[in-house]
Amino acid sequence: MSTESIYRDAMPALCSVRDALLDEITAIRKDMEEELGMDPIEHLLARIKSEESMREKCRRKGLPETAESALEKIYDAVGLRIVCAFVDDIYTIRDRLLTLPDVEPVEEKDYIRNVKPNGYRSYHIIIRYKKQHYAEIQMRTISMDTWAALEHHLKYKKDISGNTALITEELKRCADELASTDASMQTLRDMIRDL
Ligand code: GTP
Ligand code: MG
Repeated sequence: MSTESIYRDAMPALCSVRDALLDEITAIRKDMEEELGMDPIEHLLARIKSEESMREKCRRKGLPETAESALEKIYDAVGLRIVCAFVDDIYTIRDRLLTLPDVEPVEEKDYIRNVKPNGYRSYHIIIRYKKQHYAEIQMRTISMDTWAALEHHLKYKKDISGNTALITEELKRCADELASTDASMQTLRDMIRDL
């Protein structure tokens, strides 16, 4: 028995959107590296959401498990994550991405300026590429990325019991401390640049 992909025959198109966005970001990165004298990106990841995750997300959202849902109703079949050393560079990359003729913003969630109650910070933007496919781009600092990875581990560790309120509170405190360090690092960088 052959089961059809939830993406039907769109996989090559999704891969080319992913690769095109990686190329666009690489070009922005090179320009910024020349201007700043340093590479603004610590790491850059791209993925196509797996068949199983996409089906699970359709079910969670009450959508039928079809290519229409996966490509038109859910926007993160293509996902990129850009991890920067400094907060300012996140916004510079965002601004430059949005000047590109093939990139149209669809939805922006700025969890850096509007921190989630649990302490999660990250800048998310959904874009539409060449008026066709959607992609979600997440941008964060190294500190934000470290925190999100730890929090993700803890959230999915089912056997946590006992004082979860304390754990939640401590995680939030760590997120805020990391944010304050990010702000200090940004200040230090500005001071060094002005020397
Ligand atoms: P989805 O239904 O998963 O798309 O959620 P949403 O539409 O509310 O999107 P949102 O932009 O808030 O989150 C999308 C992605 O951001 C998630 O799949 C995670 O990768 C990440 N994310 C959002 N909130 C958190 C959080 O509290 N902790 C961690 N570790 N990651 C988060
Ligand atoms: Mg989402």
